[in-house]
Amino acid sequence: MLVTSTLHTTETTTSPEHRPDALLLHAPDGPDAAWWRHAVIYQIYPRSWADADGDGVGDLPGITNRLPYLRDLGVDAVWLSPFYRSPMADAGYDVADYRDIDPLFGSLSDATALLARAKELGLRVIVDLVPNHTSDEHEWFQAALAAGPGSPERERYIFREGSGPTGDEPPNNWLSVFRGPAWTQVQAGDPATGAKGQWYLNLFDSKQPDLNWQHPQVREEFHDILRFWLARGVDGFRVDVAHGLVKRAGLPAWDEASVMIDDHDGAGEREAIPTNAAPMWDQDGVHEIYRGWREVLDAANPAGDPAQDKILCAEAWVEPIDRLTLYTRRDEMHQAFNFPFLVTPWRAGELREVIAQSLRAADSVGAPTTWVLSNHDVVRHASRLGLPIGDPRPNGIGPNDTQPDAVVGLRRARAATTLMLGLPGSAYLYQGEELGLPESTQVPDDARQDPAWFRSGKTVLGRDGCRIPMAWEADAPALGFNDTGATWLPQPQEYRELAVDRQTGVPGSTLELYRTLLGARREHDLGTGGLRELPGYGDDVIAYVNEAHDGSHTAVLVNLGEQPAPLPSGRLVAASGELLGGALPTDTAAWVLLD
Ligand code: NOJ
Repeated sequence: MLVTSTLHTTETTTSPEHRPDALLLHAPDGPDAAWWRHAVIYQIYPRSWADADGDGVGDLPGITNRLPYLRDLGVDAVWLSPFYRSPMADAGYDVADYRDIDPLFGSLSDATALLARAKELGLRVIVDLVPNHTSDEHEWFQAALAAGPGSPERERYIFREGSGPTGDEPPNNWLSVFRGPAWTQVQAGDPATGAKGQWYLNLFDSKQPDLNWQHPQVREEFHDILRFWLARGVDGFRVDVAHGLVKRAGLPAWDEASVMIDDHDGAGEREAIPTNAAPMWDQDGVHEIYRGWREVLDAANPAGDPAQDKILCAEAWVEPIDRLTLYTRRDEMHQAFNFPFLVTPWRAGELREVIAQSLRAADSVGAPTTWVLSNHDVVRHASRLGLPIGDPRPNGIGPNDTQPDAVVGLRRARAATTLMLGLPGSAYLYQGEELGLPESTQVPDDARQDPAWFRSGKTVLGRDGCRIPMAWEADAPALGFNDTGATWLPQPQEYRELAVDRQTGVPGSTLELYRTLLGARREHDLGTGGLRELPGYGDDVIAYVNEAHDGSHTAVLVNLGEQPAPLPSGRLVAASGELLGGALPTDTAAWVLLD
């Protein structure tokens, strides 16, 4: 099911014109901009990328073997989702030991080998850091349970007495992101004394107790963990739930559902509640923590060589966007994921608006903006964009739900990526999106593993459908994920035709489109370019000119309207689908190097 397109290298002629006086949305970076201001970073979900030992779960040696694929794809860096020792209650986002690798994924020496191989290939490596909570199997939490109420060990977490006449009700009404109460009672009580068991806060699963970031030991410990991985040669950290570490004093009541992001589709009115209205999110106290981390990272690059910069990227589901920029002030993190872009529906006006706002907001603090369309927590964009525009974003898609239109979804996904990679800033790709992999809507209920599925009484499908093992070779066991055919989640039928070997070298395949885009982005320095609107188009066409510091001008266009749109005069560099008589059809994007 490959979309074929022919790249016409003929000149195109039309009325829209690049006008250097048109609205400048973003000024270019200098030619020596640090790598993270424009890097394309590929997210590997270690469970599902490549499985060297054949147990059905991906691992670090598997990743190391496959790294040349990423060099050939043309990305700059890799972000690895957690590989730490973990009971895997939340697929590794429940860390029991931050300084060791889970045996499922390999060993510390496998991590060293991976880092060395990446360096040889010219790929930087960012690892995931999970500071909001540990696993309940972390030695600190085990010590807290053993030591009992009032102990210093309990101070490192958020333990409270229960409420209600008998103390058997949670201390407050907060809800977990994965559904159910955000509190877990540790024991039924002590019959000898009549004392009731305390409760601990878990904003996610009960097996993910929240740390108490007011505690100096917690702060010191994470500085040390940063140094541990910096000493092993990592280039940075993606910071999980970066907006959750500090809770409002007194833990005041908050009865809204706790979500990482709302599912509003962007249509109609919405009450704009800033995230920090909720006492558990985006509290001002988090920034001091990141200022401390920035010092640790900067100390790892004493000469201040931009090529050696070690970075922090915030996973912060924060609104409005101006609050998000607080995380990327000069003495805090380098980047924050641009989730407002990810959740914007396929409507030209709203996309234009979010792009302009993102650039403006990031520029206001001198940070690069980032762009992202998929990750391991959301429905893959090849499927999301195939759902009716205006429907709320689902948390997983099951066989009985409205099915995405695969053709429309892929067409829009390719256009969306062509838009994204034509914009200045840093971009994140999620494994398999370069193949156009759809969400699996066929995960059997008994195979589901997302804690949200269990905590919701099996009503919220959750994220398993975007975490399916990768498709490498159409005719190999487990599509080349391993040699044994075992997979921790089943691979749907349609992944076969989308496997890497089916797309490699095939003109018009999604994989070749990504390669073309990444190559041209690098060649024309689009990541550090300035961005100007390209006037002359109607509301349904998003049209920019990316102005590189070498003086080249690349038009980046997407047509969301029904009528084909003319292309500006120049050389067609890339197109997400076939052109129609030299014009850009519906749901198609193109880059044109202007004369
Ligand atoms: C965000 C991660 O991306 C997600 O996968 C995880 O479940 C939560 N944080 C909790 O760590």
